[in-house]
Amino acid sequence: MNTNAGHDEANPLASLDEWENDLLQRYPDPETIAFSKSASEYRNYDAPARDSVREFYRLNHTYQTYNFVQKKRQEFLKFDKREMSVWDAFKFLNELVDDSDPDTDLDQFQHLLQTAEAIRADGHPDWMVMAGLFHDMGKVLCLFGEPQWAVVGDTFPVGCAYSDKIVYPEFFVANPDYENEAYNTQFGVYAPGCGLRNVTMSWGHDEYVYNMMKDYLPEQALYMLRYHSFYAWHREGAYDYLLDDHDRDMLKWVKLFNPYDLYSKSPVAPDWNVLRPYYEGLVEKYLPSTLKF
Ligand SMILES: [Fe+2]
Ligand SMILES: [Fe+2]
Repeated sequence: MNTNAGHDEANPLASLDEWENDLLQRYPDPETIAFSKSASEYRNYDAPARDSVREFYRLNHTYQTYNFVQKKRQEFLKFDKREMSVWDAFKFLNELVDDSDPDTDLDQFQHLLQTAEAIRADGHPDWMVMAGLFHDMGKVLCLFGEPQWAVVGDTFPVGCAYSDKIVYPEFFVANPDYENEAYNTQFGVYAPGCGLRNVTMSWGHDEYVYNMMKDYLPEQALYMLRYHSFYAWHREGAYDYLLDDHDRDMLKWVKLFNPYDLYSKSPVAPDWNVLRPYYEGLVEKYLPSTLKF
């Protein structure tokens, strides 16, 4: 099944990886720059891919309205679609196949495993390894028929003015909320310093997986899941006026997580047969026997 295939109007990306390759252009690995280890690996980003990323963000910024997000929250946070074991869920996620370069792109599970393994290799707590292993599980939304712009891409608060620190801010003029006086002031529907927990984020795989995991992982891990695509916050420092002290405290964990997500990709797949016992034990420690979608 090739549900991830792009090339239609609603799904301009040839693969979800095009968004992540774009992130690497915007936020290159400092070590790669310093040692120019494999800089060329990240520089093979051609013009058609850039155009499709632009078009992807045009759709994302146009259609992610406050009302759209509320509708998607109602639809998906009931978790009444499917129930699967964790391992069946990874198999399900892997039905997302990239058609751009099937020989060299790693599947979704490999990205999750590489992220988790890089975190584990640096000796971080096992709940952070769990965050690495699950952070993109929410991409199964694509398999439920959701368009790319409602699954991936940088996330941002809805219901208040957009920061110019969000990538391609010019596309927000086409969003109906841009003209809506309830939503287009600095604070919009929010109180100053209300805390991110009270802020509705644009809809996508972060918010979905956060809700899936919120009863099972510690707060720091939940921030990593929930805000890993909120680049305007954790990379650009925007939206300080919505934060409370708890968010400021948690930011360091979100920042700690981000390089493992962006820079752990390696063409060498980890040996699952060797790793399996560790991960089975880890998943058993934190999660129930099945997950609801
Ligand atoms: Fe992600
Ligand atoms: Fe990721």
